[in-house]
Amino acid sequence: MTWKSIGIFDSGVGGLTVLREIMQTLPQEDTLYFGDTARVPYGTKSPETVIRYAGEIASFLIKRDIKLLVVACNTASAVALPTLKRQLPVPVVGVIEPGARRAVEVTRSGRIGVIGTAGTIRSSAYSRAIKRLKPDAEVLTRACPLFVPLAEEGWIDNQVARLTAHMYLQELKEAGVDTLVLGCTHYPLLKPMIADVMGPDVMLVDSAEETARTVSAILAAKGLLRPSAEKGNHNYYVSDIPAGFVRVGNRFLGGRLGDVFQVSLDDEETIT
Ligand code: DGL
Repeated sequence: MTWKSIGIFDSGVGGLTVLREIMQTLPQEDTLYFGDTARVPYGTKSPETVIRYAGEIASFLIKRDIKLLVVACNTASAVALPTLKRQLPVPVVGVIEPGARRAVEVTRSGRIGVIGTAGTIRSSAYSRAIKRLKPDAEVLTRACPLFVPLAEEGWIDNQVARLTAHMYLQELKEAGVDTLVLGCTHYPLLKPMIADVMGPDVMLVDSAEETARTVSAILAAKGLLRPSAEKGNHNYYVSDIPAGFVRVGNRFLGGRLGDVFQVSLDDEETIT
């Protein structure tokens, strides 16, 4: 019996934090990762543009016969998920809902902070998802765009990173949030430093971890989990030359990145 792969995409390299969690939770599964390195970042772009990009990538992955699609990019999850869910013939998992669910589980005070790209924060997708689960929650949000280049540069705990974190997080800290959602693919790399800045009383929620658990639950429920004795293969596609993706990606994935292939989305029929 042949088992289909899990498809996963991001605007670039950041989604490898989600892939890393999926590999850890489901080591038996094959994966197809697509990083849109020619068009990154998504966090600064309009919802219309991100929805179009997401449709093109989804159609590329669907043609490769995936069994489930993970939208690892928070910005794409925030704006494109309803369209993808409506159009695709496979289950589609975003990172917002799992992160919101976990935040609601762990908060005691109901004051929840959310950080992400400008696009994610502007969409209010996390606030809506949290309030759907816990209507009396108080959600405080802050866009932290500079965390993305810091993580890619490997500046995850130096003076510049700490100063930036203080500037971004001070308000949330003073507002007394007891839970902070790391609502961007890159932020798990900065987690120890963010934890330090927020202090021991604030729980950090990593959307990547929660998403991997959700993927596992959906595949199990549908009888699509590969037997655990198997060992998964991992394929990587990017839309620009692979060099930068390989360099930064190995850091994101702890040196386990395989061959990376450049592909063109020009011939793909868009799903929107
Ligand atoms: N992957 C994006 C996200 O999680 C961050 C990088 C970008 O702006 O494209 O929102």
